[in-house]
Amino acid sequence: MRFATKAIHSGGAPDPLTGAVIPPIYLSTTYQQEAPGKHKGYEYSRTKNPTRDQLEACITALEEGEETACFASGLSATSAIMQTLSPGDGVVAGCDLYGGTVRLLDKVYKLWGIKVVYAESNDLTDFESKLKSLDKPKLVWIESPTNPLLNIVDISTLSQLTHSYGAKLVVDNTFATPYLQNPLKLGADYVVHSSTKYLGGHSDVVGGAVTVKNKEDVKSIRFLQNAVGGVPSPFDCYLLLRGIKTLHIRVERQCKNAEEIVSFLINHPKIKKVYYPTLTAERALVNEQMRHPGAMVSFEVDSIETVNKMCERLKIIALAESLGAVESLLCVPYYMTHASLPEERKKRLNITPTLIRLSVGIEDINDLLSELDSALQ
Ligand SMILES: Cc1ncc(COP(=O)(O)O)c(C=O)c1O
Repeated sequence: MRFATKAIHSGGAPDPLTGAVIPPIYLSTTYQQEAPGKHKGYEYSRTKNPTRDQLEACITALEEGEETACFASGLSATSAIMQTLSPGDGVVAGCDLYGGTVRLLDKVYKLWGIKVVYAESNDLTDFESKLKSLDKPKLVWIESPTNPLLNIVDISTLSQLTHSYGAKLVVDNTFATPYLQNPLKLGADYVVHSSTKYLGGHSDVVGGAVTVKNKEDVKSIRFLQNAVGGVPSPFDCYLLLRGIKTLHIRVERQCKNAEEIVSFLINHPKIKKVYYPTLTAERALVNEQMRHPGAMVSFEVDSIETVNKMCERLKIIALAESLGAVESLLCVPYYMTHASLPEERKKRLNITPTLIRLSVGIEDINDLLSELDSALQ
């Protein structure tokens, strides 16, 4: 099956009991056993739930992995991969990850004895020197495109480098979505998603997922999913399944709108710089590993005054954290998504108070353009 067919049909065959085209949501927490320990594969819903199974099968098909484990949030999915490590193990992370991921690595897992070092996201020689600096390098952790500056990392070359040091590559594919990029096919070992974003797509569910490429890595993620217990509710799984059915259509429109917004912003006198994958990275690399550069656009405006006036004047576009929804969302990463980063780190990463990140939605492009135009005037 091709992507669109998988998005609609994977994991969700009609209910064999009634023929219901949309299978029921299995809310039951527990399952009757024929005899002690003799059951139909389901005992208790933290361990395994039929609605979650459907969602996991669907994401596995879209990411072309071995198995997927779903979690209650993107950060609990991230946490599950980190919990496969032991004290003394090392992680090389791209320097411009989502601020909450950096907070989790630095303020939780460093305290548990995991060594975390950061590399310049688009500099593979820096990744190599950081891998060399660790006694026990176990994971390389990246986002591509990165958040919020939309740098592109060469996933295929980085996966070879990572494996040559005996480590595994994790790609947070939240920004790209499986429709635009499949990191496991490019050599990554784990894909992590905040399914809160494009997969859900309607700003009404928080969730996370880890898709594993190799059979031998499935066991530990499944163990942690059950043992730690950060699982999504069946209703949240249903909402995600429903959202994913239109992922490809939504992302196509979002990308088309984003292209027009980039052209508008590039020529605007109040915009100092536009960040978009084809502007910030080699076009050939973007085309090689992505179907399209995506629908996230960041830009630097000329002054704090412009930021404030712009935010005040927005009517359609919401000033809000998060991304990937049908509605356009605008944020100022310095004060919002990346507020938890130390000041000196924000400075080094060019996350300034005048940097704006726009998650382009599927509204009519003419309304979005006139909103941006009048907000910037
Ligand atoms: C790229 C990325 N990864 C992970 C997360 C964390 O996901 P969640 O908010 O679902 O825990 C986010 C949240 O914004 C994100 O943008």
